[in-house]
Amino acid sequence: MDRIRITGGNKLNGTIPISGAKNAALPLMIAALLTDETLVLENVPRLADVAQLQRILGNHGVDITSVGKRAGDREYQGQTLHISAAHIIDTTAPYELVSRMRASFWVIAPLLARMHEARVSLPGGCAIGTRPVDLLIMALEKLGAEISIDAGYVVAKAPAGLRGATIDFPKVTVSGTHVALMAATLAKGTTVIANAACEPEVADVADCLNKMGARILGAGTPRIVIEGVEKLHCARHTVLPDRIEAGTYAMAVAMTGGDVQLSGARPELLEAALDVLKQAGAEISVNGDGIRVVRNGSGLRPVTVSTAPFPGFPTDLQAQLMALMVCAQGASEITETIFENRFMHVQELARFGARIKLDGETARIDGITRLRGAPVMATDLRASVSLVIAGLVAEGETTVNRVYHLDRGFERLEEKLKACGASIERIRE
Ligand code: UD1
Repeated sequence: MDRIRITGGNKLNGTIPISGAKNAALPLMIAALLTDETLVLENVPRLADVAQLQRILGNHGVDITSVGKRAGDREYQGQTLHISAAHIIDTTAPYELVSRMRASFWVIAPLLARMHEARVSLPGGCAIGTRPVDLLIMALEKLGAEISIDAGYVVAKAPAGLRGATIDFPKVTVSGTHVALMAATLAKGTTVIANAACEPEVADVADCLNKMGARILGAGTPRIVIEGVEKLHCARHTVLPDRIEAGTYAMAVAMTGGDVQLSGARPELLEAALDVLKQAGAEISVNGDGIRVVRNGSGLRPVTVSTAPFPGFPTDLQAQLMALMVCAQGASEITETIFENRFMHVQELARFGARIKLDGETARIDGITRLRGAPVMATDLRASVSLVIAGLVAEGETTVNRVYHLDRGFERLEEKLKACGASIERIRE
């Protein structure tokens, strides 16, 4: 298994191109199941999760081709995928495939909407909390599906097709909103999703579905209204930039000091995180090419932050912020409100010398002046990148093991950091 070796102490200076958002690319690829015509997706990041989803879609009979390099392509430009679900030959998503990535469970929605049946294994993915699918099932039942659980599989049927309904989520759920949205596009009549997730990736998927002929209003707000249509058609869509990747590199620069342009980042997608970084002492400015992050000399100030659904501070940046606060001058508090047990990075950060105490959902971090490099183990996607951030300032050598977590969500991480002066390399095994 590959490892990443970092020698800490270098400032970051230069430009980091921001890739397409993983959390939009995955549901967009899944949305291609809704039509027998071809969906062309541009700016799809080259990630292990995308490759895994290609395999899962392939199992349903979907053809995916990746377009080669074109004149004028930027370095690190994402891939263009042509996705054609002209013939769905299998409506079962098997355990061996779904257990590796939670989002693949979402294929249940388009399969049910278009084929009127689906049999999908209960999901796997990052081991953060219990991450149930009860609300996804509730949404599909509201739309008229009959659901049963059989030997670890969710079996969904709607012989006469889905019917529009009001779906009122008792808590904000990104997965629930994606599933309800996709299923409702082909349901008969009107669907209202109340307390919908407002994440930009939901709005991006709705935008693409509308290009495919869906009639969706209000995506990006808590109330989404969908008028079902009979059929969706071909479309071309560009995946929006990854706000979590942008926020992660912004934190890395705040940690090491330096001056980095996050090329292609969209500030309106990560205002809460940029505000926190400013409080912590980073200078953030917005220009025509994205976001510039600068920190020179001054120490980091502690912050008090709670994660929240969009537009709040994202849970997917919680671990990275914690790594940053390990070096702040004073005590910080970070409260995780979205997922239980999303603190696996705490014990690994302790290997660098970090002083963090957990009290229920809140972590109290007493800043220290120096981190020491250490061998550490990545336990989930965002936790693992927090260890990279710590390694960038830690004295001496840090080895991050189990790098496959990073490859699931960060495109060419070590190349991007190396180009800005980090001493980082991948050890292939
Ligand atoms: C998505 C993101 C993930 C991010 C999360 C929150 C993708 C591929 N993943 O995950 O990176 O951290 O949003 O922004 O987009 N819940 C239930 N029942 C359900 C569904 C969810 O109780 O049926 C709970 C979850 O356990 C969690 C909360 O709702 O506590 C939010 O989960 P959700 O927003 O659905 O997260 P994901 O879509 O899985």
